[in-house]
Amino acid sequence: MLKKTLISSSIIALTLVLGSVQSQLGQNTLPQLGKNTIKEIIAAMTIEEKANLLVGMGFNVNIPGVPSPSEADKKLAEKVVGAAGRTHPIPRLGIPSLTLSDGPAGVRISPIRNGDTSKTYYATGFPIATLLASSWDTDLVTRVGAAQGSEVRDYGIDILLAPAMNIHRNPLGGRNFEYYSEDPLIAGKMAAAFVRGIQSNGVGTSIKHFAANNQEFNRMQSNSVVSERALREIYLRGFEIAVKESQPWTVMSSYNLINGTYASQSKELLTSVLREEWGFKGFVMTDWFGGNNPVDQMRAGNDLLMPGLVPQAQAIVKAVADGTLAREQVDANVERVLNIILLSPSFRNGPYSNQPDLTGNAQIARQTATEGMVLLKNDNNALPLATNTKVALFGNASYDLIAGGTGSGDVNKKYVVSLDQGLAGAGFGLDETLKQKYNRFIADQKAKRPKPAPFMMPAPIAEAPIENERLKQLANDKDVALFTIGRNSGEFADRHVENDFNLSTTEHALLEDITNAFHAKGKKVIVVLNIGGPIEVNTWRSLADAVLLAWQPGQEGGNSIADVLSGKVNPSGKLATTFPISYSDVPSAKTFPGRELSGVTLMLTNPFGNKPAEAVYDEGIFVGYRYYNSFGIKPAYDFGYGLSYTTFSYGPLKVSSNKFNDKVTASISVQNTGKVPGKEVVQLYVSAPQQKLTKPASELKAFAKTRLLKPAETQTVSWVITARELASFDTASSSWIAEGGTYTLNIATSPSDVKRSAKVELEKDLVVEKTKKVLVPPAGFKDLQRTR
Ligand code: BGC
Repeated sequence: MLKKTLISSSIIALTLVLGSVQSQLGQNTLPQLGKNTIKEIIAAMTIEEKANLLVGMGFNVNIPGVPSPSEADKKLAEKVVGAAGRTHPIPRLGIPSLTLSDGPAGVRISPIRNGDTSKTYYATGFPIATLLASSWDTDLVTRVGAAQGSEVRDYGIDILLAPAMNIHRNPLGGRNFEYYSEDPLIAGKMAAAFVRGIQSNGVGTSIKHFAANNQEFNRMQSNSVVSERALREIYLRGFEIAVKESQPWTVMSSYNLINGTYASQSKELLTSVLREEWGFKGFVMTDWFGGNNPVDQMRAGNDLLMPGLVPQAQAIVKAVADGTLAREQVDANVERVLNIILLSPSFRNGPYSNQPDLTGNAQIARQTATEGMVLLKNDNNALPLATNTKVALFGNASYDLIAGGTGSGDVNKKYVVSLDQGLAGAGFGLDETLKQKYNRFIADQKAKRPKPAPFMMPAPIAEAPIENERLKQLANDKDVALFTIGRNSGEFADRHVENDFNLSTTEHALLEDITNAFHAKGKKVIVVLNIGGPIEVNTWRSLADAVLLAWQPGQEGGNSIADVLSGKVNPSGKLATTFPISYSDVPSAKTFPGRELSGVTLMLTNPFGNKPAEAVYDEGIFVGYRYYNSFGIKPAYDFGYGLSYTTFSYGPLKVSSNKFNDKVTASISVQNTGKVPGKEVVQLYVSAPQQKLTKPASELKAFAKTRLLKPAETQTVSWVITARELASFDTASSSWIAEGGTYTLNIATSPSDVKRSAKVELEKDLVVEKTKKVLVPPAGFKDLQRTR
């Protein structure tokens, strides 16, 4: 691969030289991309061509209030039907069109083109990002990225609109399933791993949505009011890691405003921070229809407006003509887009197969999903189940598995393996009559429910009722009860507390009835959670003997769940997002998703009915476990938590020195002390001294996943901790500072369950990095501090 890249870059270099020699000789009047320098190409472009390159080709969907694409654009045949967008080609200069496609859990394109079913274009539905993050395994995530990227390449797409990496600020965030974690280190490391995997195929990524876009409520017009410190430490940090560690080809700016400025129009965000401080080299695109001022977007460094509207291009041309937008600015935007086009498959113009390895990738999806499932409860080794166990399988989601969320994060996959299919395939005995009852009920309810508005999630259907007599009979005949609880969500709407975060009365009652019937016969009850984000568990978990959090596991989900239930795979997932006891415990419960503002107009057109709104992030840096652990609020299941079918023990935590100079190495050995092979996630948290800056009780600073350890086998993991890991953002001086004092390094299975500790002294304050003073919230804004 590397060799191939080297060869192709030498060819490009050679052709560039030849091209410029030719043009110097006056033999080629029209420069061509790749043959001439970018400067020569830009010099040959008209202002209309430049504006066209910076504004996508439009969305040929009838949305009231949204101008349609130009007639010429409408006529250009789509290269990949159902892709999210494309850029304008400029054939006379050898500039091809880029094709961009969603999304995080797999390539999202139309499976059928022009009604012709003789050839299909399905893509693999991989597990959702929240599941991937729960694996805590960056190598695994790179493998998923590589597999997904191969489908991007094989379908002739240039850029995948993924990974999505916003922080789980609140469990009700409608798109949390597309995102990794409440913790920026996990989000950043996972995103970087995913980008490396995708881009290893010679295609690009767009890390999104940059930044502080943590809800769907009025998402296009909501102002996130947030402190500089929370931005730097929580909402920007993951993006910073991803940019520095993986150089994504592109970044997608978010819809929302940050402290009063649209993200896509914020020069501070897109130029000062992203480019000047972090060294980002690619181009920035808007989210679809994001922002309200194309000229400000260009100035901010938001180079491509997607999906693109004719009036946006006209506004750019006009602003250059009347001198309000500098030509040099437009040229800089164009240059960044052209640099990425030069890397793209469309520029290389090679053939693509349209035949991705769907069979091989399905196996990767199946295996990966098992690695991110989290065993939340397993009393008296209720799990694993022998495969000859006779299972009474309850819950709509058992028969109609939710493979992933809705909206642009959804994938047009060929099939979804339901849990009943997965269990049957693994050899478990199921009840045919029960299965038929569920299938009939689900089909009937689906036929009756109202058709959702375009792009929206269909209304969930209530749990099928099961009569008590039937339950008693099943409790007699079967060995174990398995109840799957399902939840779905997606773009445009956040989740709800009632009948969503909390179980519905019907679900509660059914679980109680199942438990009564089966426990009366001395038989166990297993609950499987087929969900995209946390739900309330505290009021019902005591009923279940075991709870497996399967997340939304992708198209092979039923097989993956069966692999874990049967013990074929030992669960090793850990929560990367906290399960609070009740919704009111969530630090942003009072301010999420924000409030609508009256009397303010932010956008000229308002195609999606969004109203101006505001979300005040007054919990500051205390998001997720940083809050629960620092303020003594006990969650139902902690960040970092997850059981295994085996046990592990830790050796002593060794540090290279108790004095911190510029770094320290920490290492620890982990041993499998149980009876079956398993993997352990080793988590390192740092507790900082409480000096001038308020500090969370502890913060995750490093993690590693062991290989599959056989019983009695040991593995040593080690990390280098630098000053940056000790530092916090000091708003007063706009710098990252590690304050002098005693730092405690904790090896823990969650922030509150510490196994081993070591102390490290930092003699005096260290200024790790000085930054610009940017993205300042309104005067007087204060967020949560921890009193000492
Ligand atoms: C979403 C993006 C997505 C884009 C293109 C927007 O509605 O917010 O995540 O990439 O659509 O489909």
